[in-house]
Parts: sequence; C-alpha cells; structure tokens
Amino acid sequence: MHLFLVLPLVLKVQSISMGHNVTCDCICHEGFKSAYCSNNNITQLPIALPPFTETLNLSHNHLNTIPPRAFNTTRKLHFLYLNDNNISMLADGAFFLLEGLRWLDLSRNQILSLSEGFSKGLSSLQGLSLAENRLTSMDSSYFLHMDSLQRLNLSHNSIHTIKMRAFGSISTLRQLQLDWNKITILNNGIFSMLRNLEDLNLHHNQIHSLDVGVLSPLTSLGKLDLTNNNLSTIQFKTFLSLNTYSTHIMLRGNPWRCDCDLQRVFQKLCNVKRLFLDDYDSLTCYSFNDEFNGNHTVFKAVELCVAEMVTVLVITITVVITVVAAIVMAEKKRKKKNKEKHWTEVGEVSCGSQD
Ligand SMILES: *[C@@H]1O[C@H](CO)[C@@H](O)[C@H](O)[C@H]1NC(C)=O
Ligand SMILES: *[C@@H]1O[C@H](CO)[C@@H](O)[C@H](O)[C@H]1NC(C)=O
Ligand SMILES: *[C@@H]1O[C@H](CO)[C@@H](O)[C@H](O)[C@H]1NC(C)=O
Ligand SMILES: *[C@@H]1O[C@H](CO)[C@@H](O)[C@H](O)[C@H]1NC(C)=O
Ligand SMILES: *[C@@H]1O[C@H](CO)[C@@H](O)[C@H](O)[C@H]1NC(C)=O
Ligand SMILES: *[C@@H]1O[C@H](CO)[C@@H](O)[C@H](O)[C@H]1NC(C)=O
Ligand SMILES: *[C@@H]1O[C@H](CO)[C@@H](O)[C@H](O)[C@H]1NC(C)=O
Ligand SMILES: *[C@@H]1O[C@H](CO)[C@@H](O)[C@H](O)[C@H]1NC(C)=O
Repeated sequence: MHLFLVLPLVLKVQSISMGHNVTCDCICHEGFKSAYCSNNNITQLPIALPPFTETLNLSHNHLNTIPPRAFNTTRKLHFLYLNDNNISMLADGAFFLLEGLRWLDLSRNQILSLSEGFSKGLSSLQGLSLAENRLTSMDSSYFLHMDSLQRLNLSHNSIHTIKMRAFGSISTLRQLQLDWNKITILNNGIFSMLRNLEDLNLHHNQIHSLDVGVLSPLTSLGKLDLTNNNLSTIQFKTFLSLNTYSTHIMLRGNPWRCDCDLQRVFQKLCNVKRLFLDDYDSLTCYSFNDEFNGNHTVFKAVELCVAEMVTVLVITITVVITVVAAIVMAEKKRKKKNKEKHWTEVGEVSCGSQD
C-alpha cells in the first residue's frame, strides 16, 4: 500500500529534477516505460500518464466507457490492458492515434457489440482479446482498420451469428478463438479471406452442420478444433475442400450417429494424407439401429460396418446367382423354343418350296 503512494511521488520529483514535466496518477516506471494502474477504482479516462508509457495496465478497475481519443497523451503505447473492467461502450476512435499498439486486452468486460470506428487507429495491432464479453454476432465492419491482426480471442461470448466475410478485412489473422460460443451452423463465406489462418478453435459451440465449402478459403489451416459440438454427421467433401499442406482435426465430444455412411466418410478421411484425425481412436458414436444399438467407438463401428458389408455381399451374391440362374434357364428355354421355331420355319419353307 505504501509503495502505491510513494513511487509516483518519487518519480514526479525525479522527473522534475531531470527537467521533464511528468505527472502520473498510477505507478509509473520510466525505465520500463510502464504505468501500473490496476486495482485503483478508476472510473473514468483520461488519467494523467507520462508520454513515454509503452505498457499500460488498467485492468481491474471500474471503467464503463472508453471515450474518443482516450489515450491521446500516451501515443507510444505498445501494450494496453483494459481487462476486468465494466466496459460496455467503446467510442468511435477510442484508440485513435495509437499507431504503435500491438496488444489490446479487453477481456472480461460487458461489450455487446463493436462499432466500425472502434478499430480506427489500430493498424499495427497484432493481438486482440475480447474474450468473456457479451458479443452475440460478428460483422464485417468490426475489424475494418486492423491491418496487422494475427491473434483474435473471442472465446466465452454468446456469438450465434457470423455474417458473410465477417473477418474479411483481417486476412493477416493466424489464430482465431471462437470456443465457448453459441454457433450452430458454419455457413459458406464466413471464413473467406482468412488464407493465413493456422489455428481455428470452435470447441464448445452447438455446431450441427457445416456448409461444404466453408473451410475452403483456409489454405494455411494447421489445426481445426471442433470438439464438443452437436455434429452427428459430416460430408467428406467438407474436409476434402481444405486445400492445405497438413491439417489436424479434432472431433471428439460430438453426438456422432453410427451408420455406414459415417464410417465411409471417416474411412475416406483417413486415406487423405494431408488430413490427420487426431482423436479418431477415441471417437464414439451412438445409434438406436438394431445392429449398432448403443455407444461404440467409431473404430468398433467400422467392424460392424464390415460385418454389414459382408451380409450385403452375401445377399448380393445370392441375388446375382439367382438372377444368372434365371437368365440361363430363360435362355435355355428360348433356345429350345427357337429350335422348335426353326424346325417349323424350315418346315414351312420346305412346305412352300414343295408347293
Ligand atoms: C507541467 O505540468 C503542470 C501540471 O501538471 C502544468 O500546469 C504545466 O503547464 C506543465 N508544464 C509544461 C511545460 O508542460
Ligand atoms: C477501492 O475501493 C474499495 C472499496 O470501496 C476500497 O476498499 C479500496 O481501498 C479502494 N482502492 C484504492 C486503490 O483506492
Ligand atoms: C496487470 O495487473 C494485474 C493486477 O495486478 C495483474 O494480475 C496482471 O498480470 C497485469 N498484467 C500484465 C500484462 O502485466
Ligand atoms: C485529448 O483528448 C481530449 C478529449 O478527449 C482533449 O480534451 C485533449 O485536449 C486532447 N489532448 C491532446 C494532447 O490532443
Ligand atoms: C457496470 O455498468 C453498468 C451499466 O453499464 C452498471 O449498471 C453497473 O452497476 C456497473 N457495475 C459495476 C460493478 O460497476
Ligand atoms: C482466450 O481467452 C480465454 C478466456 O479468457 C483464455 O482462457 C484463453 O487462454 C485465451 N486463448 C489464447 C490463445 O490466448
Ligand atoms: C443438436 O442439433 C439437433 C439438430 O441436428 C437439434 O435438434 C438439437 O436441439 C441440437 N442440440 C443442441 C444442444 O444444440
Ligand atoms: C452413450 O453415451 C452418452 C454420452 O456419453 C451417454 O449419455 C449415454 O448414457 C450412453 N448410452 C449407453 C447406452 O451407454
């Protein structure tokens, strides 16, 4: 507690003696170019900070809004922590002029939506966390001015709608966390332009269907986590359209429906060299169907499918034999008839020639 009060004073005195004019409402450290303002009951910005500040920790305060140009006295900021506040409103241009900002943490706030102007001035931002907020949809206007963003954390929100080209302006993105949201469908176009994305996290949503082409723009994808969703079936083409060098896919924790269609999809997927189903051995599926009744590992179900295939084969062979036999019999009969016919024809002719 004493440290809190003494340090800024020391700095102030030092700065003045050094000929600078520096005020600091928090604990400021010129050597580290940092300002530590956490747990300070701060309710409003701006606050007085030295212009050299590159790292600003404003976490665990009571901020409700970030006004326009809130950081215009600290334009050299590289790292800004605004997590664990009560922020619901980010003004247009809130981060204007922060051209050196690389990392912005807004996690654990009350943010419901973002305006187009929110991203103005954040052209150097590489990492943004909006985790544990109250976002419900993703719009293509949200990240318009972020030309360098590589990591985006949107986990633990309530996102159920992702608009077409929602991330279209951030083609630099390499990691996208969308886990623990309320996504049900992955529609074509929602990941368009994300050609640099390496890591896509979608676990703990309610996804029950993927459009066949939705993954095709992701030409750098190395890891796709779809665990703990609501998938009961999948189309082979959906994953085949991933035009990557190598991609690890995780699929456990889904209510897979055991049937031979699913087995065929998985068998085909296992044969695609560039795709790796990391948790294939532990995948379980469920069925009410007689043959498949109960829970199985997909692997076990493959055996059941083989059994089914054998049955089908036996039936097919039986049918083929029957049909062939029938044809042969029919042929024999026809020939016999033909012979008789011939004989009569000949007879007729001979009769005619005899006439
Ligand atoms: C120094 O700061 C004080 C208040 O903190 C202000 O009144 C004064 O104008 C500043 N001087 C300069 C030269 O910036
Ligand atoms: C913040 O407010 C709480 C409760 O009002 C108080 O106990 C605490 O000392 C305050 N902290 C600071 C740094 O002022
Ligand atoms: C910011 O301050 C909080 C509270 O003291 C601390 O837990 C956190 O680690 C700090 N963040 C950074 C990036 O230093
Ligand atoms: C910073 O912005 C505030 C309003 O948000 C304004 O009052 C102040 O003059 C600005 N300071 C600078 C240095 O631009
Ligand atoms: C958070 O902000 C809302 C208004 O947006 C307010 O009603 C609430 O009291 C605030 N909570 C805290 C802990 O400051
Ligand atoms: C994203 O945010 C969540 C929730 O705060 C956190 O648990 C997770 O570690 C973050 N992910 C990354 C990759 O930083
Ligand atoms: C899972 O998807 C099915 C449709 O395939 C739907 O009826 C069901 O409500 C979904 N369950 C959850 C928990 O979202
Ligand atoms: C099958 O697995 C599900 C989820 O793991 C479980 O809720 C259910 O009771 C299991 N059913 C049987 C018949 O084992």
